[in-house]
Amino acid sequence: MFAVACLCKMNITRPRRNRKNSAIRDMLAETQLGAQHLIYPIFLKDGKGIKEEVASLPNNFRWSLDLLLPEIESCLNLGIKSFDIFPAVDEALKDQMASYSWASDNFYLEAIRQIKARFPEVVIMTDVAMDPYSSDGHDGLVQNGQILNDETLPILAKMTIAQAQAGADIIGPSDMMDGRVGYLRTALDTDGFTNVSIMSYTAKYASAFYGPFRDALNSAPKAGDKKTYQMNPANKREALLEAQLDFEEGADMMMVKPALCYLDVIALLKESFPLPITAYNVSGECAMVYAAAQNGWLNYEQAMTEMLLSMRRAGADAILTYFAKDFAQFIRS
Ligand code: PBG
Repeated sequence: MFAVACLCKMNITRPRRNRKNSAIRDMLAETQLGAQHLIYPIFLKDGKGIKEEVASLPNNFRWSLDLLLPEIESCLNLGIKSFDIFPAVDEALKDQMASYSWASDNFYLEAIRQIKARFPEVVIMTDVAMDPYSSDGHDGLVQNGQILNDETLPILAKMTIAQAQAGADIIGPSDMMDGRVGYLRTALDTDGFTNVSIMSYTAKYASAFYGPFRDALNSAPKAGDKKTYQMNPANKREALLEAQLDFEEGADMMMVKPALCYLDVIALLKESFPLPITAYNVSGECAMVYAAAQNGWLNYEQAMTEMLLSMRRAGADAILTYFAKDFAQFIRS
């Protein structure tokens, strides 16, 4: 009785009226989330008939191209049109210079060619960094335990041009070397690839949440960590500096990675720069949800939807996520 009396006296506004049924809730939703916002990261392996589940990332696989093509087709039918493909390279092909990344018989480049030939409407994003091809497992060139910056740039440029020649629509420098966006933009333009976009990993943090991805590609650093090039999780203003540089160097889109622990950074970059902002919902973030759902501790669909929505609400225009296919299937059903 006390509560009723109190409500009438205090206030006639009842926010619950705008939540009273699902049609009204949908009509008034401030944030939209659909398959068109998602980019699906996929692991590719050389060979035939391969579909190996990644142990630390259930529900995600290393695919050989023959099985990946029909998988891409089924994603397209669900409205997923953008894919970020990562190569799982045989240890024997890795070297200090990551030279396999531009080798003419590289299976990853061949796969991009075939995917684009078969599905011209798909958007293919590629990763630019040395780690999947490097015998050191670092994103840049290693010498005496140091990750060299300027010496790495020409290597990244060779990799970029090879990917552009194969048909990549968007290249994604994930290496965090200083000056690489401008360097790669110039390399692309000089070779006539003015239409190839750059989605820069602008604010990429030295994170514990990349573990399952490194398992998938067997690409963890052989020594040391990535803290001299990836950002310190303690820092937010530094993301503005990285963004300023990428903006001036000609990035088309700017990414924040990981997403979930860095929603404040997504919001900051969205307010501060007139470029599309993307979020990478990384492997470890998805693995937590898979693990909890497998134990019956969380509802998979609800938890995944709430996470993705939080990234869009923070300001992400597009999201790279291992949930892409499941989410698209979920909203269809
Ligand atoms: C490689 C790269 C990494 C990821 C994307 N590109 C790993 C790393 O920097 O160690 C992580 C993606 C994920 O965890 O889902 N430079």
